[in-house]
Amino acid sequence: MKYFVANWKSHKKLAEAEAWVDELAGKYKPKSDEVVVVGAAFPFLARLARKIEEKQLGQVSLAAQDVSPFPLGAYTGAVAAEMLDGMVEAVIVGHSERREYFHETHQQVANKVVQAREVGFGVILCVDEPYLEAQLAALEEGAAHGLIVAYEPLAAIGSGVPQKPEEVKRVVEMILKKVPDVSVLYGGSVTPENSRDYMTIPGVSGLLIGGASLEVDRFLGVINY
Ligand code: PGA
Repeated sequence: MKYFVANWKSHKKLAEAEAWVDELAGKYKPKSDEVVVVGAAFPFLARLARKIEEKQLGQVSLAAQDVSPFPLGAYTGAVAAEMLDGMVEAVIVGHSERREYFHETHQQVANKVVQAREVGFGVILCVDEPYLEAQLAALEEGAAHGLIVAYEPLAAIGSGVPQKPEEVKRVVEMILKKVPDVSVLYGGSVTPENSRDYMTIPGVSGLLIGGASLEVDRFLGVINY
């Protein structure tokens, strides 16, 4: 299975997010071996989930871009995994922007993985070098099983300079050696022009797409490499 994960980050207001899904519904031709996951902001997830259902976009699902490391309870401002039940199928955790700007630690990210799994969500765990080993080591025993691991080299994110495919290949091999039963995605300045270079790397099961996911045509260009 191939995974194409749009990471909208903190872009788009509600009307733009809905318009994106409408446009996708008109243009997307699903293939049986791929899934499209849209990482949208928390306040839009319920509305977008309804829209995806209305439009019968069967192969398109939503992901939260983060989740609380805690269960339901007295944690002001936190969005617990259980609150997202029925709205998303997956949760993105440990994106480098969360780790950097929100000071998330490897341990907190590992706790988020546990919370997301308890509700049965797919988990897209972002890792980057040089912290990759520690990020994976922080996971609880057996917690890596079935994860989607998105390898996103820091220098490639939003920079317009993706990592060279040879280098990505080396790191993907390393990840699969350490945690063999995961699917690995590449992310970092993926565009319609370069997506094929990454999708053809052995061991790469998909892409995490930031900037190029904001417009439907560019996003579809990435998918239809
Ligand atoms: P980018 O972002 O495609 O804009 O580089 C990728 C990401 O941060 O997930």
